[in-house]
Amino acid sequence: MNNLLVDETNDKAATNAKASAAYRLAEQKASQYFTTLSQRLLNNTHTTVLTEDFSVWQKKHIHPFDWLSWLPGKRQPDTRNVQKYMHWLNVAGKLEDYLDRSISYIYMRDLGQALDSPKTQENIRRTVKDTQQYFTKTASEHEPQPDYISPVALYRWGQREQVEEAVIWVMDKLKHVAANIPEELDAAQAQRKLIKIILGVVLHVYDELTEQTPREERIQRLDAAIRLGYSYGLTYPFVDDLLDSQVLNAQQKEQYSSMIQKALLTGAVPDIEEWEGPQLEVIRYVHAELREAFEYIRSYQRVEMQQTFFEQSYVFFQSQEIDRAKKISNAHYSNEALYIPIIIKSASSRLIVRSVLSAAEDEGFDLRTFHYGIYNQLADDFADMFDDLRDGAVTPYTYYLKYRDLRPDLINPYELYWAVISYLIHEVYQSNPKSCDVILDRAINGLKRCRERLGQAKYDEVMDIFAGGQPEFNQIVQQMVRKAHDVDFLDKLLRDEVVQQLNNEKQQKEMFQQTLQTVRERINVELQISKPGEGPDMKGVLIDAANYSLQGDGKRLRPILTWVMGVEQYGLRESSLMPLLRSMEYMHTASLIFDDLPTQDNASTRRGRSTLHQLHNSSTAELTGLFLIQRAICEQSSLQGFDEQAVLKLIQYSAVKAEDMCAGQAMDLGSRGKSLTLEELNAICFYKTGIAFEAALVMPAILAQVKDEEIAELKAFAYHAGIAFQIRDDLLDYAGDQRVLGKPAGQDERNNNSTFVSILGEQGAQKAMWEHYCFAYDALRRMPQPIPFLKYLLDYLVGRER
Ligand code: IPE
Ligand code: IPE
Ligand code: MG
Ligand code: MG
Ligand code: MG
Repeated sequence: MNNLLVDETNDKAATNAKASAAYRLAEQKASQYFTTLSQRLLNNTHTTVLTEDFSVWQKKHIHPFDWLSWLPGKRQPDTRNVQKYMHWLNVAGKLEDYLDRSISYIYMRDLGQALDSPKTQENIRRTVKDTQQYFTKTASEHEPQPDYISPVALYRWGQREQVEEAVIWVMDKLKHVAANIPEELDAAQAQRKLIKIILGVVLHVYDELTEQTPREERIQRLDAAIRLGYSYGLTYPFVDDLLDSQVLNAQQKEQYSSMIQKALLTGAVPDIEEWEGPQLEVIRYVHAELREAFEYIRSYQRVEMQQTFFEQSYVFFQSQEIDRAKKISNAHYSNEALYIPIIIKSASSRLIVRSVLSAAEDEGFDLRTFHYGIYNQLADDFADMFDDLRDGAVTPYTYYLKYRDLRPDLINPYELYWAVISYLIHEVYQSNPKSCDVILDRAINGLKRCRERLGQAKYDEVMDIFAGGQPEFNQIVQQMVRKAHDVDFLDKLLRDEVVQQLNNEKQQKEMFQQTLQTVRERINVELQISKPGEGPDMKGVLIDAANYSLQGDGKRLRPILTWVMGVEQYGLRESSLMPLLRSMEYMHTASLIFDDLPTQDNASTRRGRSTLHQLHNSSTAELTGLFLIQRAICEQSSLQGFDEQAVLKLIQYSAVKAEDMCAGQAMDLGSRGKSLTLEELNAICFYKTGIAFEAALVMPAILAQVKDEEIAELKAFAYHAGIAFQIRDDLLDYAGDQRVLGKPAGQDERNNNSTFVSILGEQGAQKAMWEHYCFAYDALRRMPQPIPFLKYLLDYLVGRER
């Protein structure tokens, strides 16, 4: 017993020692690198070398007869429209160069490759060709911008690669991160970072796949890359950002950090110990999610790679801890204290990607990536300088801005940045002309972008501070910034576009939520049926029963949809539309009352309360259902202020659709215990559920006398959206929470119902749902004008929990 304990303690001590040794080693390497760079700065050798590089470089980028580009049609269009810009590049014969530059850069930065390797050149050529094809096919002057980051694009890619399951998994994860992340951390930002990391990991795998890779292996590796990417990426919001934020107090941060450290040192996530304070819920979620992620990565590691993985993670984490501890108020950091942790941090964040993938060691990759990190970090920190200053963050730039007068010994980070560039070009990439080209392109582009963002005056001010010490070199650089062409990059363009799309989306999503809520409230007060002063008493009983069912907390999706289409899309008056809205909810509620009867689904709860037949009896429920349907017709026939023929057409349409829904419900009940084909499943779902969504869209269109072609697209959308809605309903019946649902879960299984889940399994049902989602989305894009509400409705339908 005693021995065992001693062994364990020894083990721990040994692991600790190994981890600290790994960190010391990283420190040594970083310190050597830093010395080399500072040496260059001292000798000022790098500006001489770079001046020569620029004199070669400019031949490609500065055109003496530039006036041609001012001819009409030759002028560069606004780069903010990606499709238009690609079209212009293509017409101007610049597209291939542009893509080559952009993709070569990604190969250096994200894949740690050298551009002189024939294999890399071949891969770049292939990727450029594919990308060119994509853009020449989709780019036009007039097409609307596609959503670059959208579930549809992602899912379709997943389908092509046969990794839909991983795609569905990761979309679900991303959704949960956004829903559970503490408010102080920006949810959209966290999602964007995660997507970026996942993409990086997937790219690594992509790069290693060839045409000879067996299909099965390809699928399996891409599937793992998505999950590993998420699992590793999670550390950015949940470790780094969380510890950076003010969500936890100092003592909690310490406790949290030591938990992470323990996990990295022992290879097992410790349980949450005592946790004081209100963030327990958040910490529980974060902890559970990180544990799952950690275990997934560990399970994927080859045994011989585990050690490397844990060491690298430890080094990464440790360097961040040291960096984080810096305070801008401390005037005494040495240059080493400022730079060494960020050399380590920025290198290891990239180095670790391969070890997450359990890829074999690759010395060339390690070497290039190690030296590359600080370059990228200095470029990013330069761009973020003023935000960081505002946030009081310590970066080489903010620190230099604050203390440069007091501390003449401080290294100027902008000068160091150019020293790194020359080191990369000539030492790491061994003066390879292409690497030189691309890196200088990127550097000049960074400055151009900065000038655009800050405006000339502020930009000059910044340059005075940082570049004033090397006036001759700076003159050359500024000349390039003013005159050089063709230095822009696709990843920057897409990033800007994605940020803008995400912002728009955020706004529109909020509007969608707002509409959903306010319209629902407006409809709710209109639903109550009042009792007439005369007539049989029994009618009062039925009216009470109807009101009971109506008062439950239904989502009112169908009338909301009708309201949005009628009022917002077709400009109909809300007050004139009210009878139609009531009729929709009356018919729907009737269908639920029937559906819950013992002769049908035999359900005990609905909309959070007892079903009507439980409260009264079946016959009262049946009669109430009939009563509601008649009341719906009564409402429809009292529609006023519309073309009378249109109202008649609407009533007829409504009656036929109600007949079809009865047939759908009969088909559903008749299919119990039977195995169905996909076509049969789709048909049942369309008739029992999809039709009501179709009606919600088509009825206001009938009143507004919209053209038949537009109605056809609405129907196509409703068909797929309706089926997707029902599949989500089946999935929620299978795995949902009945307290949230307000109706029983597991009822389909008890009834031996044939549903998407029972026939295709949970995963199969999810795939089918996303497929319908994509088709519905296509139908939306075919509509003559965009209807943003429907896009968000679609997201809502497949993401809802009730
Ligand atoms: C439930 O419809 C019946 C189905 C077609 C699956 P809803 O989920 O819209 O139910 P409520 O109106 O919100 O209660
Ligand atoms: C109901 O389908 C279809 C109707 C139009 C009533 P379900 O039977 O799956 O609906 P829930 O789950 O009971 O709401
Ligand atoms: Mg049913
Ligand atoms: Mg049911
Ligand atoms: Mg159901």
